[in-house]
Amino acid sequence: EEDGYELWLRYRPVREAGVVTRHARSIVAPANPSPTVRAAVAELRRGVKGMTGREPGAATRPGAGTIVLGTPATLPAALVPAGMAALGPEGYVVHSAAGGITVIAANSDTGLLYGAFAWLRAASTGAALAGLAQRSAPKLQLRVLNHWDNLDRTVERGYAGESIWNWWALPDVRDRRYVDYARANASLGINGTVLNNVNSKPEILTAPWLAKAAALADVLRPYGIRVYLSARFSTPLELKETATADPLAPEVAAWWRAKADEIYRVIPDFGGFLVKANSEGQPGPQDYRRSHADGANMLAAAVAPHGGVVMWRAFVYAAENPVDRAMQAYDEFKPLDGKFAANVLVQVKNGPIDFQPREPFHPLFGAMPATPLMMEFQVTKEYLGYATHLAYLGTMFEETLRADTERSPGGLTVAQVVEGAQGRPGRPTGMAGVANIGSERTWSGSHFDQANWYAYGRLAWDPQASSRAIAREWAAQTFTREPRALDGIVAMMMDSREAVVNYMTPLGLHHIMGTGHHHGPAPWVADLERPDWNPVYYHKAGRDGIGFDRTAAGSNALAQYAPSLARKYADPRTTPEPLLLWFHHLPWDYPMPSGRTLWAELANRYDQGVAQAQALRAQWTALRPYIDARRHEDVATLLDVQVREAQWWRDACLAYFQSVSGRPLPPGVKAPP
Ligand code: GCU
Repeated sequence: EEDGYELWLRYRPVREAGVVTRHARSIVAPANPSPTVRAAVAELRRGVKGMTGREPGAATRPGAGTIVLGTPATLPAALVPAGMAALGPEGYVVHSAAGGITVIAANSDTGLLYGAFAWLRAASTGAALAGLAQRSAPKLQLRVLNHWDNLDRTVERGYAGESIWNWWALPDVRDRRYVDYARANASLGINGTVLNNVNSKPEILTAPWLAKAAALADVLRPYGIRVYLSARFSTPLELKETATADPLAPEVAAWWRAKADEIYRVIPDFGGFLVKANSEGQPGPQDYRRSHADGANMLAAAVAPHGGVVMWRAFVYAAENPVDRAMQAYDEFKPLDGKFAANVLVQVKNGPIDFQPREPFHPLFGAMPATPLMMEFQVTKEYLGYATHLAYLGTMFEETLRADTERSPGGLTVAQVVEGAQGRPGRPTGMAGVANIGSERTWSGSHFDQANWYAYGRLAWDPQASSRAIAREWAAQTFTREPRALDGIVAMMMDSREAVVNYMTPLGLHHIMGTGHHHGPAPWVADLERPDWNPVYYHKAGRDGIGFDRTAAGSNALAQYAPSLARKYADPRTTPEPLLLWFHHLPWDYPMPSGRTLWAELANRYDQGVAQAQALRAQWTALRPYIDARRHEDVATLLDVQVREAQWWRDACLAYFQSVSGRPLPPGVKAPP
């Protein structure tokens, strides 16, 4: 019975099993294979066996029906593809050579592993195996998952059970599941994982915990995955090993250097530190009147001799900034452009508030040309209905990545910024995804949430990839290749995030979720200790209208964007409708392009969101004949919840906004019960 554990690596029998067998009778691997090459070969054997029933054997010589894996150093000269140098250390070529030979070539063993997964993806999605000509290299260097996993095995904003890291049993017990985790990530090209929560604890950097992290690093290493740790800025002070955590104090810098040396002794390929500092009560350099750059550079100097990096987060906001929380990161970081050490990346959330169902891109993208900016997406759906609601995030990630920052005359998308288009060559590039992984059977809390892990990984490899193509590829491996069913599943996925936006926060509304847990509507909350935690701070609805004025007449957050963009968005008539109330406070009877008043449009959007949720459920019901019973039922159960909660959102928001606006419901919109 299908329970989702195998993710997209199911390798079920395919109808062209004969063709697959013909192309994969045996595998030729380099002599003395590394653990990474062994993993690649094992995956090919497992995959082919699953798809055809016949496991390929080992061969020593290329010939018809062999898959030949190798680097330019190990392949027979005639089989080395042209242009290998351009592939870099992690790229691969998968191509059909003369004589019925399939070549998987790369410059490193990790590249071979990625190539093996690419071949398996081709085989399991029905690609023509006789004419393969794939060549692919990652556009970003650091493709990293951020686990918000605590040392007590709870997961901050995790909706898929407890942490997969069984800290108690580590380092002695290495759960087999870690290998499956590594396989899934390697299949996407994810090459790094931050094991612990950004809200970090000092203990993680003590010897017993480093031994646990080292055991995980040992398991993940063959799959090309490096381990990173979230570091609490005040660690040496809290461990009582220094008298301060001031980054400019020599004893503090020396402590971190020694700590880095200690870490690299047990994890020789340690990736580096992720740091949340001076954010939401976390300690940081500003506690000592030092800047983010002072703090980041001090840590960077400690890991630099070992080749490590520091990923310094730009998610900062404070109660002392009561005007507009959206502006603080830019205000603090933009002046530091060019001041960060060469091995620091500033990690910026996709939008300026906090992983809302829809946000404009963060104004720092394009505004710090001398600093590598790392994208941070949230794969776990803190604000999009947890793992209960179906919301495919590929479209959301794509929307941000394709947004034009207008920081260059010819256009400059966020993806290009992240790829380093502005920076000096040689500086690191990267993307982080806040993981939605836990120890539930499905890993992600629902079958469809696996697609978000998948889409994140594929976009980290190629930020300009198409979310639709990714959805199709995922669904074909995860559910079925039957074209009608595939069309239906992809259609559901492509509509799903917009449905959520409509029933939660249409037209640019944001942060009106329940306090703390962020699930369900609470636009009426106004009495929390910090103004910027109250939903009313964000929607600003009153008798006069609704929306957050971020034009010059308001907070002027718009001035943080490129002048051309700021000019366009200064006028509600040239502001994209999906962002209207993000940037403008407008009267309830403001005329919308549809001919409706703003109030009527808003009410209609909430209605539409419910209709879309109902449509998702109906579409899934129609797919029953194509989906195995257990997974069909699992998804159907959640879609029932989603419909109910979409109605809850609609009713609560309409009732509340109606009470504030004092207006009757527009014709055709049903009154909340
Ligand atoms: C959000 C989230 C927190 C998290 C924070 C962060 O505010 O609700 O749980 O710690 O983001 O990204 O640091």
